[in-house]
Amino acid sequence: MEKSSEVPGFYKRSIAERRAFAREWGGLTEEEARAYEFPPGLDPATVDRMIENVIGVMPIPLGVATNFRINGKDYLVPMAIEEPSVVAAASNAAKVARAAGGFFAQTTAPVMIGQVQILHVPDPGAARLKILDRKDELLAAANAKDPVLVKFGGGAKDLEVRILASPRGTMLVVHLLVDARDAGGMNAVNTMCEALAPEFARLTGGKVVLRIISNLAVHRLARARATFPAELLKTDTATGPEVVDAILDAYAFAVADPFRCATHNKGIMNGISAVVLATGNDFRAIESGAHSYAAWTAAADHRSVIRPLTTYEKDAGGNLVGTIEFPAAVGLIGGATAVHPTAKANVKLLGVKSARELGEVLASVGLAPTCAALRARASEGIQRGHMELHARNLAASAGARPDEVDRVVERLLADHQIRFDRAKAILEELRHGPG
Ligand code: MEV
Repeated sequence: MEKSSEVPGFYKRSIAERRAFAREWGGLTEEEARAYEFPPGLDPATVDRMIENVIGVMPIPLGVATNFRINGKDYLVPMAIEEPSVVAAASNAAKVARAAGGFFAQTTAPVMIGQVQILHVPDPGAARLKILDRKDELLAAANAKDPVLVKFGGGAKDLEVRILASPRGTMLVVHLLVDARDAGGMNAVNTMCEALAPEFARLTGGKVVLRIISNLAVHRLARARATFPAELLKTDTATGPEVVDAILDAYAFAVADPFRCATHNKGIMNGISAVVLATGNDFRAIESGAHSYAAWTAAADHRSVIRPLTTYEKDAGGNLVGTIEFPAAVGLIGGATAVHPTAKANVKLLGVKSARELGEVLASVGLAPTCAALRARASEGIQRGHMELHARNLAASAGARPDEVDRVVERLLADHQIRFDRAKAILEELRHGPG
């Protein structure tokens, strides 16, 4: 009989029942299904409350990047990521930056944007001014929704009104600017936008549709800069000044070309997303915000469709100077950060006391692996490193024991045939001699 994915009441079942169902459905062996089990320290009931239809967990490796010194303070940085080399790259670049004082980071106030979309406004220009006329009252009404946030110095601070041409005609869009303090801001912002919606409709004569936070958090920025001394960037095959020039060439390529820029910015997000995930924050929100910011700032400059989130320059002494700027809409209270025990442990390990400090760490960690990746690419070609890792993974999945892995990898690289069937054949040969 054909299997159906329609499972009435699936959400009502227990984790064990759902897992048993999924196991049967997917034809998983008992051993395979064991991969879904909860590690000690993670209460299944907590996980079951986090998302729907839980059957288990998907553990991602958690590493710690070393050598980070940010604004004169040392950090061990927890990074959750499945990709090899990123933690090492971040640690290496942080070591180089450390020789010149480390990272110097800053953030703006943690101001998020809530958007309210208003349709069918007969006179958008006048409606815009009517809303702006009532700004103080409207902000007060928004703040009445979250006295706790206001008590901590946050809350609705300003209001902007845009007239937007769209494929469905002109619409009015109100931006409510809310200082979220140590929260991500999603709940506070959405609640405030909801609360103001009827008044916006009344003032404008239009119809309110969306009321939701924007991930393009242009007012909540994190920035960092670091100097990477040229002599410490030298490799086996290139001098320090050569590496600096090669990194500047790679950066110029990213500035000029969106295809390269996408990869350049991906390398930045390797660092940022790993820390965002490790601290239980919403990595999709940060990624969407970062890439949109890269496009938005490029458009503002009339330069390209997208720009690198970092800049690279050479200082008067010939050293590499990097900077980064991106929206860092992360929080320490609320969300998974407050409930996931691993995220809680990671925040404590990291030792950040505010969402802004976390933003400063993110900016620094975004700057570090890109520098290391460009350096690797620039001098010896990153491909060799990637191939070696790929070969290592193949050797392991072909069944090589730890004491056999190196020999299989060596042969795969020497033969220039980095494939699973070759890994198996080499392993067979190592164990039983040529067949
Ligand atoms: C791989 O995850 C990221 C890099 O490709 C970034 C880059 O090319 O700059 C190494």
